[in-house]
Amino acid sequence: MIGSIRHEADRERETNLDVKVMMDGEYVPSDQAKISVFDHGFLFGDSIYEVVRTRNRKLFVARMHLSRLRYSGSQTGLLVPWSDELLLAEMESMAQLLAPQECYLRLVVSRGVGPMNIDPAGCDHPHRILFGRKLEIPNADVYRDGIRIFLSSIRKNSLSDENGNIKTGNYLDHVLAIRQAREQGCQEALLLNHRLEVAECTTSNIFWCRDGVMYTPALKAGILKGVTRQIVFHLARERGLRCEEGLFPLAELLDADEVFITSTTRDVLAVRQVGQNEYEVGELTKNFMSDFASVGDLNLAF
Ligand code: PDD
Repeated sequence: MIGSIRHEADRERETNLDVKVMMDGEYVPSDQAKISVFDHGFLFGDSIYEVVRTRNRKLFVARMHLSRLRYSGSQTGLLVPWSDELLLAEMESMAQLLAPQECYLRLVVSRGVGPMNIDPAGCDHPHRILFGRKLEIPNADVYRDGIRIFLSSIRKNSLSDENGNIKTGNYLDHVLAIRQAREQGCQEALLLNHRLEVAECTTSNIFWCRDGVMYTPALKAGILKGVTRQIVFHLARERGLRCEEGLFPLAELLDADEVFITSTTRDVLAVRQVGQNEYEVGELTKNFMSDFASVGDLNLAF
């Protein structure tokens, strides 16, 4: 047992050596960054988080991410007792440390230590942990050719119907789905909700288009209100394209002309296959991919 813990520690040192960690405002060597086993983030998945990226070496739409973090906090009672200015300054500091690389920043707020039962009432001190590493984005040929999405048999957690927009560390349904996808050699998995409506992928939102109209699941499908999704709505308005949010059966997606996904770490990424269905990487997707590449920093209402 002890041997296997040592082995784990060695692996941590090897794989995460390049990840910088700041805990409650202090940089900590990555192999010494620890939280208590009594933290409810560890015990119950009781944490919230955001992933922010830099673009041209500046924080990109970070205020939109902080708005969503505060929303997640308000819905879970995990209030985020630090100012946006402090959180932004810490992210800036991390981005400077990693410069000139573009970086991936992950800000986790965990419930903190409390009595060992599920009630968060006794957890008085949430922790903030900021991770930073080089941003890894798919190669250009992946954007050109599109990815394959596995159609998962896992249904989105039904809690998400009302609360999908909480960006929580509790991702079990999505972890199960990505395992299925990887076993089939796919890069993403699509989850339907318990009413069998199209919901979202494991770490991205999904869009499709048919006869020049764009479609994407409404928040009521139990999805995360992606920051990138919001930016795509903005770009669609600028292009004068109609974009309909709704509750869609899978057949509508399978019948699409083009499909793409959106996320902070992949922007707009073309899809060439969902389940057994194949799609072209068409003009609309290409336009969004290139529009996105030149979008400036934004703070759209969230
Ligand atoms: N994930 N849906 C889910 C379930 C997600 O985890 C994410 C993002 C998105 C897209 O949201 P945004 O456009 O705000 O990144 C949709 C991040 C990138 C992650 O967990 O790595």
